[in-house]
Formats: sequence, C-alpha cells, structure tokens
Amino acid sequence: MNAKEISLEEGKVKPVVDHLNDLLANYHIYYQKVRGCHWNVKGQNFFTLHVKFEELYTAALTTIDELAERILTLGKPPYSTFKDYIETAQIKEIQTIGLKDTKMVKAIIDDLAILIAKEREIMEITAKAGDDGSNDMVNAFMQFNEKNTWMLRSFVNED
Ligand SMILES: [Fe+2]
Repeated sequence: MNAKEISLEEGKVKPVVDHLNDLLANYHIYYQKVRGCHWNVKGQNFFTLHVKFEELYTAALTTIDELAERILTLGKPPYSTFKDYIETAQIKEIQTIGLKDTKMVKAIIDDLAILIAKEREIMEITAKAGDDGSNDMVNAFMQFNEKNTWMLRSFVNED
C-alpha cells in the first residue's frame, strides 16, 4: 500500500504519518493513565468519576485503533510497542494509586491539552498535504477532547 493508491503524494503524506504516529504514542500513555484513574479512584466522587474515566478510556481505545489504521491506510506501519510509545510520547506516565480524585481529573485535563495542541497542529499539516480524510478524523478527536476539557474543568471548578 502506497499513498498514491488513494491519490495522495508520498512526500506530502510523510509528515502526516509521522505526526499521526506521535499522536498514537501519546494516546497510548493517556489511555493507560485514564484506565489507572478508573481503577484507583476513591472517595465521594467514586461513582461519578469511575464511570467518566471509563467513558474516556473507551473513547481513547477507539481513537487509538482509528489512528493506527489510518497510518496503515497511508501506507506505513503504526508504532506498535510500548517501548515506542514511552520513548515518543510527550504525555508521561504517573502513579494513580493513592492519587486524590481532583488531582486525577487535573492530570487528565493536562493530557487533553497536549492532545488538543497536537491535533490542532495535525489539522494544519493534513491541510497542507491535501489529506482531507486524516484532517476530518483528527478534527473529530479534537472536538471530543475540547468538550471533555470543558466538562472536567467544570468538575474541578476551573473557568
Ligand atoms: Fe472497569
């Protein structure tokens, strides 16, 4: 599979693929962090946050698969090892055992800010490459993260 089979130029698609792989790595670290929050959250907000974190990591799992398969559609292999994810991702792992619930939410808000910034950058790169498919896909991921930033910030009373 080569980019030209779907009417895209190989040279222009290269930066798209590189950035999608970078985003994939970040989503993997984010996914496991949210999963850890889902497992380890304690206190009065348990029932609210346990469910909310499940919603977020379930969405991340779908996003991860769509990103990887888009990279394959563009003719390249997606990063597929945790070694690659840890080395590549700007988002860093944290210990969620014993972490206060509001600190969990703030950690997720910080990660969403990183994902949104990366997605906004990919919007420009895909536009330059004429890759409307990746552009549209990443736009949807970004909007989901933007909306959840509002909700999580409301939860911790941040304007
Ligand atoms: Fe669960």
